[in-house]
Amino acid sequence: MGKDVIVACDFASKDAVMNFLDKFTDCKPFVKIGMELFYAEGPSIVKEIKARGHKIFLDLKLHDIPNTVKKSMAVLSGLDVDMTNLHASGTVTMMQAGLEGLTRPDGTRPLLIAVTQLTSTSQERMEEDLLIKEPIDEVVMHYAHNAAKAGLDGVVCSPLEAGKVHERCGQNFMTVTPGVRFADGEIGDQSRVMTPAQAKEIGSDYIVVGRPITAAEDPVAAYKRCVEEFVG
Ligand code: C5P
Repeated sequence: MGKDVIVACDFASKDAVMNFLDKFTDCKPFVKIGMELFYAEGPSIVKEIKARGHKIFLDLKLHDIPNTVKKSMAVLSGLDVDMTNLHASGTVTMMQAGLEGLTRPDGTRPLLIAVTQLTSTSQERMEEDLLIKEPIDEVVMHYAHNAAKAGLDGVVCSPLEAGKVHERCGQNFMTVTPGVRFADGEIGDQSRVMTPAQAKEIGSDYIVVGRPITAAEDPVAAYKRCVEEFVG
């Protein structure tokens, strides 16, 4: 499995993201496109960035009835993205339907990973709003196990959970981890963070890095530093 740094392109418009990507003249980072950019610019933004030679993680976190997820995944697969995701809380059946929809007639498909519990959900909110009474760590591991059972390739999780996910679901089950910061950088609104080197040590397969690269004075240097620390 290829370890890689995925750059979270959390920009609001095509101009902003293209202006950022123009800086990368001698390398083509794997980029994450999220809801904000996708809803602002539509599917053409995916095609345009792909045409520039970047791999794409389309982070739209689908969650609906299985039939709708299946049909929507078939559309995303046609956009030729490399990785996409859905919510594990949609059930094993929904995840299986997503995987089926994503699989092209020739048998190939983008990687499919699941979101477990969002890191913005606290134990208290989970218990009171969602009526889930188990400890949140166990819920995350259970959802990861469900994703593996459904045949998905991995989960998005905190780098702090990556080791445990591998123990529970196997070394080949991918962990894609945001919440990465340089040792000498700003933490911002993330609370539980790791450096790229620590994420490598703990066994993350992909790290998702946004502001430490996008808001850096020299984004290309920051990206290369990240790759150097994480991939080596
Ligand atoms: O700028 P920063 O490095 O914090 O960006 C991290 C990216 O990962 C953002 O796109 C954010 O939405 C995403 N993410 C996260 N925590 C999660 C899931 C996704 O930070 N639990």
